[in-house]
Amino acid sequence: MSDSAKLLFNGHEYDLPVIAGTEGETAIDIRKLRAQSQVITLDPGYGNTGSCRSAITFIDGEKGILRYRGYPIEQLAENSDFTEVSYLLIYGHLPNQTELKQFRYDLSHHTLVHEDMRHMFDGYPSSAHPMAILSSMITTLSAFYEDTAENMDLNIIRLLAKVKTIAAFAYKRLKGQPYVYPRNDLSYVGDLLQMLFSFPTERYEVSEVLERALNLVLILHADHEQNCSASTVRMVGSSAANVFASIGAGVCALWGPLHGGANQEVIEMLEQIRDSGENYQAWVNRAKDRDSGFRLMGFGHRVYRNFDPRARILKRAADEVLQELGINDPLLDIAKHLEEVALKDEYFIERQLYPNVDFYSGIIYRAMGLPTNMYTVMFALGRMPGWIAHWREQRHDPDTRINRPRQIYTGAGNRNFLPWYERTQG
Ligand code: ACO
Repeated sequence: MSDSAKLLFNGHEYDLPVIAGTEGETAIDIRKLRAQSQVITLDPGYGNTGSCRSAITFIDGEKGILRYRGYPIEQLAENSDFTEVSYLLIYGHLPNQTELKQFRYDLSHHTLVHEDMRHMFDGYPSSAHPMAILSSMITTLSAFYEDTAENMDLNIIRLLAKVKTIAAFAYKRLKGQPYVYPRNDLSYVGDLLQMLFSFPTERYEVSEVLERALNLVLILHADHEQNCSASTVRMVGSSAANVFASIGAGVCALWGPLHGGANQEVIEMLEQIRDSGENYQAWVNRAKDRDSGFRLMGFGHRVYRNFDPRARILKRAADEVLQELGINDPLLDIAKHLEEVALKDEYFIERQLYPNVDFYSGIIYRAMGLPTNMYTVMFALGRMPGWIAHWREQRHDPDTRINRPRQIYTGAGNRNFLPWYERTQG
């Protein structure tokens, strides 16, 4: 492959370096283009723009491949747990026994939030969306833990350890139930379950089925390279903002219904379909009609053009979890039928739209007994190690500069100010 590309523009020829990744992905490096030619590139939505070099996650959207640090998602989902995957993503290698033991110890000994911070949860109305609480409480951690170079790795541990306490407290606030404190004798996921579902009045036994299912779901959400929220973390982090502020912003980006907020919308859509009595084709037709303002939530992806490997694993897992828990959820059947009808439809085939990670995850959260507005919080918990890995990688990357895209200005030309009494139009 050639190591440079040529751009012909306005009678000049510009040589642009070509950069290749480990898996043969190729980029034309345009960093110096504007300085040489006064021209910028335009790519709304960044669909064709590489914003960094990254060694964390590899995706081949055509082939449905997803790997964290080189390991296929299927192998990690089958053999690993969320804590180990978090270590892998953040530090770049699978931990040896000593490293893993220490990491588990650290994560279970930084779980408490400051009591002053706990009082803040009481200030939220119980109708508050838990994503609002999660994002602001993560940012609030920066008020308690100083951002210094020496603290960097400790703050990362604090964030990963405390975020599940924050998420569980947000849930308890929502339910009007007493906050349940973390327990160091449980696994990361086991502790999360007990903080969510136990009461001070009774002894809680962590369900093995739920622990396994939640580990799986969190692993599948743990990273997805330069998506909207990871890019937000990097955008904020590029100004040298601390890890709590950068990831608080990432949580906000995840909240939107086109991103992580889709899992809540999927279940609400399936409930609507159930209650409507209309057939699946009617809903698929509605999704095809631009003017309806309706999309099939949990369908489509910017990168995957064949299948989303996470959705395949989750579909199977949803079946197994429901069976193991002895739950018969009609929404799972509705989801499967809807998928079947959509995948046969020319509109979806042509546009290569398939179920994404959000399509089946909600079924599992529902089986756990979580309300729909907690689903995106669960996604955020899963994505935490990925965001941390991106923030950390960027901090160590010599190429990092403050992120500052350009624009093509399309507003009014130069004009003179008139006082209000002389204006005849706005
Ligand atoms: N239902 C109906 N039509 C769709 C859907 C959908 N779910 N998704 C895409 N399309 C159509 C678009 O209308 C567009 O059609 P057109 O070419 O006739 O204009 C075409 O498919 C391409 O869609 P874009 O929106 O341009 O694709 P983009 O890559 O920008 O968006 C996205 C990807 C946001 C995921 C989109 O597919 C979507 O809105 N899906 C539903 C929300 C969702 O599930 N989000 C979760 C994504 S996964 C994640 O973030 C974890």
